[in-house]
Amino acid sequence: MKAYKIIKSNIHREGLCAARKIKKGEKIIEYKGKKITQKQADENNKYGYKITYLFELNKKYLLDGDYKFNTARLINHSCNPNCEVLDEYKSVIWITAMRDIKKDEELSYDYGFSFDCDYKDHICKCKSKNCVGFIVREGSRWRLKKIKDKKFI
Ligand SMILES: C[S@@+](CC[C@H](N)C(=O)[O-])C[C@H]1O[C@@H](n2cnc3c(N)ncnc32)[C@H](O)[C@@H]1O
Ligand SMILES: [Zn+2]
Repeated sequence: MKAYKIIKSNIHREGLCAARKIKKGEKIIEYKGKKITQKQADENNKYGYKITYLFELNKKYLLDGDYKFNTARLINHSCNPNCEVLDEYKSVIWITAMRDIKKDEELSYDYGFSFDCDYKDHICKCKSKNCVGFIVREGSRWRLKKIKDKKFI
């Protein structure tokens, strides 16, 4: 039985949820797409808008997942995700469970956006207790906190 199904998301439009219990470490769904070069991404403006669908495979190639056949594109971001993105040999990307996931729980991962990439354009509505309000990768969230703290000085 497939581990996931498409749902109307609590976070944004459509998403995926667990169709059954999922064990920590289980590969849930492959993130499919078409390989493009870093050069193509830099030279073609359309990829600027597709930032949420691009995954870096290595220094030369990215995976563009903005295709209907890529069901994994529907997974939303969360500040408290239950999945992570793992690559195999820098060519195949799997969305993998970071912990045990209950049936019907929405699947999410950290989109990994850097703080510098216009964080204010990406408001986060993940509703988790530790939501920082913007889609910013975990390692950069302290910078948001610093800004918030300054406002109270
Ligand atoms: C890769 S799509 C995810 C699927 C999307 N929910 C849909 O139905 O098309 C990424 C887009 O979903 C939205 N999104 C994903 N996670 C979000 C979040 N935590 N808060 C707000 N919007 C989110 C943003 O608009 C983002 O650009
Ligand atoms: Zn959030």
